[in-house]
Amino acid sequence: MDLLENVDCEEILVVRDRQAAAVAVVALHDTRLGPAHGGIRRWPYEGLGAAIADVVELAQAMTWKCALAGLPAGGGKAVILDHAGLDRAAAYRLVGRTVERMAGRFFTGPDVGTTAEDLDVVAAQTQFVAGTSGEGPGDLAVATATGVFAALMALVDRLGAELAGIRVAVQGLGAVGMKLCELLHDAGAELIVADALNQRVEQAVAAFGAGVTAPGEIAMTACDVFAPCALGGVLTESVAERLPARGVCGAANNIFASAKAAQILHRRSIPVVPDFVANAGGLIAGATWSITGRRADLARIHQIQQTAAGLLRRSRDEDRPPHEVALQVAGERIAQGSSNGMGESDG
Ligand code: NAI
Repeated sequence: MDLLENVDCEEILVVRDRQAAAVAVVALHDTRLGPAHGGIRRWPYEGLGAAIADVVELAQAMTWKCALAGLPAGGGKAVILDHAGLDRAAAYRLVGRTVERMAGRFFTGPDVGTTAEDLDVVAAQTQFVAGTSGEGPGDLAVATATGVFAALMALVDRLGAELAGIRVAVQGLGAVGMKLCELLHDAGAELIVADALNQRVEQAVAAFGAGVTAPGEIAMTACDVFAPCALGGVLTESVAERLPARGVCGAANNIFASAKAAQILHRRSIPVVPDFVANAGGLIAGATWSITGRRADLARIHQIQQTAAGLLRRSRDEDRPPHEVALQVAGERIAQGSSNGMGESDG
């Protein structure tokens, strides 16, 4: 029981394929609103403890995300412990078999380290997967970027500014970050970017005329909006104290390194669109496909703008961080057992 004391999850499965040197963890955080949804992350964790801590936090964020996106779905996640000797295909087969065993209580898809080809391997084991190279909900990263862009419009409005001419610092030029840059560039925003991979930076410079800074310095770059689109934990207390941006909105999950960092930014009157609101576009697309067998209307993803605007408004009116307001709204919806169906509210 000690082990589970801080683990707020309905179910956690640790599975292993000895021959493939593969270990994976699947967590179902909360299924009161519907079956759990969450992608598969492949990451070189320091050990099983770190993997469990991460999968639980990610699954929890999925629960909030589903509730705020108005989906009849709950939160889950799967992680694969990556290492040099891993048999990658066998690891994804292992996750696929585990998902199949859950018999529809968990629907999975892409996350960091997982490609459409990896998901094809999963799909050979289970039907409960989206984001493969076959017919499906469409490009989930594009859907996610579309949602982040919608949330960013709400943030820019809250800042009393306009997208044209606004300066956005984008951290991470992966599937989501690059598409977000395209949308922002088309809307007339000025971009400054950083990525661990030079090739991606060069691509953004060529395509969008983006300015460049080092990955370690992007958060401290002078800008209007900081858009974290790499990994979580970027908003530490120290970063929060010094962040030059006027607002934050990005795709990365779990951007706060601590609850105090959220408080600091609120005290400094820097609005932060909760990550699990801004990055729900891919989930909306994937879950709509798995629940209805149809592709999501773009309008549903654009509704993230209203959700974000409502939360930012309430945050200002109640003098509380937007993150706190969002958690309350999500908690209320889950407790009432109503996600608002397939509709959406402005939170
Ligand atoms: P990705 O793996 O395609 O891209 C991540 C990018 O960040 C890579 O280009 C990588 O080189 C770069 N990067 C890594 N560490 C960095 C650092 N310290 N500084 C600068 N760049 C760094 O991932 P993707 O799909 O674009 O997702 C980005 C974030 O959004 C992740 O946190 C993911 O969990 C989150 N997210 C993604 C969704 C999706 O639909 N793909 C859905 C919801 C959230």
